[in-house]
Amino acid sequence: MGRLSLAVLISGRGSNLRALIDAAAAPDYPAEIGLVISNVAGAGGLEHAARARIPTRVIGHRDFPDRSAFDAALDAAIGAAGVDLVCLAGFMRILSPGFVARWHDRLVNIHPSLLPAYRGLDTHARALADGVRIAGCTVHFVRADVDTGPIIVQAAVPVLPDDDADRLAARVLAAEHRAYPLAVRLIAEGRVRIADGRAIVDGAAWAGAGAGLLNPGG
Ligand code: GRF
Repeated sequence: MGRLSLAVLISGRGSNLRALIDAAAAPDYPAEIGLVISNVAGAGGLEHAARARIPTRVIGHRDFPDRSAFDAALDAAIGAAGVDLVCLAGFMRILSPGFVARWHDRLVNIHPSLLPAYRGLDTHARALADGVRIAGCTVHFVRADVDTGPIIVQAAVPVLPDDDADRLAARVLAAEHRAYPLAVRLIAEGRVRIADGRAIVDGAAWAGAGAGLLNPGG
């Protein structure tokens, strides 16, 4: 069987995209990136893609009259590229329910909190304001409600006494860069299935070993 083909959607610096590019550079990694789409011209992540000779598209949301027209353009580009799985990686647009339904269980996102805590923006500042001791990130299948959907991989990091939002974000981001390639690997290996609205990961007891990762459902 060939490698799973990914489209990665970005809006900014693209460090998670770069983590996926680096993972896919290994010959035994079961996925490859067929297309990178940014809704922002000049997004830093486009350079990571170009350096890796991955095709890129800029599809600017402002060029479309409404969300569904923008999403239709995304869908057409992704469909034409023969993509199996769409990965949101710092993509700062909310996708329409129609797009989410069309890519049901083939659309994943990374979020910088341990969901279901801290959906939405400013996760690190809110976590610090609450005085939590553990922070982290979540890779999950996308559902119509923002930052919900079956959890595939989570990674936890400590919150340290002198943290500010930037320091905590940097620690979580390092965990994101391990969690996203792992989650894509698990999907590409056919080890993730959905039951009762939860993602079950075969072999989850060892999948995150050594990486500090927690895979629910195993
Ligand atoms: C990450 O923190 C990700 O969890 C969130 O947006 C940020 C994107 O960072 N969804 P990058 O563009 O991948 O560096």
